[in-house]
Amino acid sequence: MEKKNLDWGSLGFGYVPTDKRYVSNWKNGAWDEGGLIDDPTVHISECAGILHYCQEIFEGLKAYTTKDGSIVTFRPDLNAERMMDSARRMEMPPFPKERFLAAVDEVVRANAAWVPPYGSGATLYIRPYMFATGIVIGVKPATEYQFRILVTPVGPYFKGGAKPITICVSDFDRAAPRGTGHIKAGLNYAMSLHANVTAHAAGFDENLFLDPGTRTYIEETGGANFIFITKDGTLVTPKSDSILPSITRRSIVYVAEHLLGMKVEHRKVALSELHDFAEAGLCGTAAVISPVGRVVNGEEVITFPAGMEQMGPVTKKLYDTLTGIQMGTVEAPEGWIRRIL
Ligand code: PLP
Ligand code: COI
Repeated sequence: MEKKNLDWGSLGFGYVPTDKRYVSNWKNGAWDEGGLIDDPTVHISECAGILHYCQEIFEGLKAYTTKDGSIVTFRPDLNAERMMDSARRMEMPPFPKERFLAAVDEVVRANAAWVPPYGSGATLYIRPYMFATGIVIGVKPATEYQFRILVTPVGPYFKGGAKPITICVSDFDRAAPRGTGHIKAGLNYAMSLHANVTAHAAGFDENLFLDPGTRTYIEETGGANFIFITKDGTLVTPKSDSILPSITRRSIVYVAEHLLGMKVEHRKVALSELHDFAEAGLCGTAAVISPVGRVVNGEEVITFPAGMEQMGPVTKKLYDTLTGIQMGTVEAPEGWIRRIL
């Protein structure tokens, strides 16, 4: 199979339409057979539930070309399960796990020419999503839905790749206590857009959101969880009921504990503790592990000892091990890698 003629190394995190996308529709209480289509445009009613009451959920995972030339995905079973959790919270019909896994395989296989080559620095981003197509005018769940998967080749989420970023403590909240922060619903991201634009306009790369109940504890950013490294080398990850249970973060915690023999703490992390950390980073499918060099909270500026030039040494070890597993140069824990081609 011949690869597309793209300059893989200069891709940013953007949308490039590829050859095929997967579609399945929910109607009369059941998902149809589903399959691949060519048309990248969605056709829905002006009164579809998604357009009025924002009934939409999504996922994000990647396909990688490994060193031996295989195409694989990383823990897609966890994306399938999380999307089912999101669906239940949003009163949408869960798309069955086995069908999710088969659909991801099918759409990646059909777009194999778009999967960036090993070593190019790019990957194929896979975006499963589901939205209410049924007609709704009173506030209630729709009775018809569409599940789709698009794929697009991407480069680093933050310009500069592994260069440490500067983030600010946001004046806005991302998710309400007992709200929807723990699921992957588009409405959470709509909520974060004004905060995002405001942060960018002030010269920051991202926001650090605080717990909305007390504004004391660290939650996450608009698109990634946090990791911190203490001065004695312990990995600390914030625990909260209103952040997304990141698959990358859960994997890093396992890697740190079981592969690198590190001490790990998953607990509430107060904003006031930032001074104690040696390194900080953002983790997620899109972010991979992006180092955070500096946090600005109003007048206060905290620059981590790891500095603004490069990833800290412990973060780098976690990054190399995680990406090594994804690219097939480090042996993966049982069940983490799904070979597609
Ligand atoms: N937090 C938010 C708000 C996200 O959008 C994402 C991205 O999916 C993450 C965290 C990281 O999750 P994962 O590692 O499963 O991609
Ligand atoms: C992902 O990492 O897959 C996400 O959905 C985050 C988003 C900011 C791109």
